[in-house]
Amino acid sequence: MKSYILSLDQGTSVSKALIVNKDGEIVAQVKKEYEQYYPKPGWIEQDANEIWYSQASVAEEVIEKAGLTAKDIKAIGITNQRETTILWDKETGKPIGNAIVWQDRRTSQYCDELKERGLADKIKEKTGLILDAYFSGTKVKWLLDNIPGARQKAEEGKLAFGTVDSWLIWKLTKGTCHVTDVSNASRTMLFNIHDLKWDQELLDLLDIPASLLPKVSTSSEVYGTTRRSMFGTNIPIAGICGDQQAALFGQMCHEKGMVKNTYNTGCFILMNTGDQIVRSNNDLVTTIAWQIGDKVTYALEGSVFIGGAVIQWLRDQMNLIHSVEEIEELALSEKDNGGIYIVPAFTGLGAPYWDQYARGTFWGLNMSTSIGHIARASLESIAHRSTDVLKTMEADSGISFTELRAGGTMVNNTLLQYQSDYFDIPVVQSEIKDISAMGAAYLAGLGVGFWENMDEIRGLWKVANEFNVKMDEKTVKHHKKYWEKAVNRSLNWLD
Ligand code: G3P
Repeated sequence: MKSYILSLDQGTSVSKALIVNKDGEIVAQVKKEYEQYYPKPGWIEQDANEIWYSQASVAEEVIEKAGLTAKDIKAIGITNQRETTILWDKETGKPIGNAIVWQDRRTSQYCDELKERGLADKIKEKTGLILDAYFSGTKVKWLLDNIPGARQKAEEGKLAFGTVDSWLIWKLTKGTCHVTDVSNASRTMLFNIHDLKWDQELLDLLDIPASLLPKVSTSSEVYGTTRRSMFGTNIPIAGICGDQQAALFGQMCHEKGMVKNTYNTGCFILMNTGDQIVRSNNDLVTTIAWQIGDKVTYALEGSVFIGGAVIQWLRDQMNLIHSVEEIEELALSEKDNGGIYIVPAFTGLGAPYWDQYARGTFWGLNMSTSIGHIARASLESIAHRSTDVLKTMEADSGISFTELRAGGTMVNNTLLQYQSDYFDIPVVQSEIKDISAMGAAYLAGLGVGFWENMDEIRGLWKVANEFNVKMDEKTVKHHKKYWEKAVNRSLNWLD
């Protein structure tokens, strides 16, 4: 009897489930969008029960769609939006409030206070992270301080905290398993990435009782099994990994110095730094990529806040295009960008500029500017911003990249060609776009011996396309000069 891996990919707006066979092929997949809530400016919430129901339903549907039964599933792998914070009651299994999503900025002011108290360096040294509202720690504190009765219950040991992976596993195992893996733990701002433990000093600082926390495990082992009420059988859950680290794994960036970019609404760029904790001089984040057995692999991470979002903005706010897919055809309708440069600093600019007061700008507009020029400039802006981060990573690590592995929902050939031209590197696109889900499937498969070892997995990777530099040096230089000029003019806009 053939067996398969079920991979659950719980993303920021979509819950997906995929069935993967032994050849590393996706046999079936089902996805479902769920609601986002915006109660106040800067606040973003999700209903943890909706996360669970959407994820559970796609998991059940995909097994049926593939013509399988739960008995055919050898193991489950889980990958997830990271940092999003959920607190629930251990007795009832009910969330005590909405999940606070990673993009939520409600704790920014508190983070500023911690910075003023001089705590940023200590936090960076212990966790690898920048002191920021992005990460889970201050979100947990906010829930404890603001949900009536929460702190008292937490002190009585009655509450559990989890990122989305922990929450799903709690539900799948009917509350018998409260666990996370090192990659997710390393995004909480509560986890010491040197000794791989929750950090008591940081817990004290944020006033978070240790009894809330899940057990931290490796990224590939059997953590528990699903209860019969879920799939009618006990399926081992054997892989957990945060979605961006899972994408690094799925892109087979298993060796030190290998790098991937995932082009979604934002772009997430991660570089494998092996067993070394590489510190950034430019405020990139140091994070745990995964742990298999005793071997911990670290990564440097940089993100571009507005990646594909610039195209969604042209569609939703400007009504200049009808669909995201249209952008490529429009971009190719012009022979060049007509001198237009877009700086997509809609929410400020991250690494290496770190200016939260930068603002989005279009430069070079004139009477002959067409929608084609704008389409082209918007794709170029994603490639330029990614190049900025990649160059910073090279400088911080002292490693020159030899290729970039690319995936994500916003990729198209034109964007990847620009990326190759502007960063001067071969860009390799994997055949499978759902690369985080594949990463989690591989980790789960390794955890139960479905695949023997990493070599076997690497043998399954297939390249769809490779992009090599086409643009002549003079043109690249010209574009870079104007890109820099445009960025400089966008900085400190509110000063
Ligand atoms: O850190 C946030 C990241 O994990 C979100 O990824 O793909 O759900 O937007 P995604």
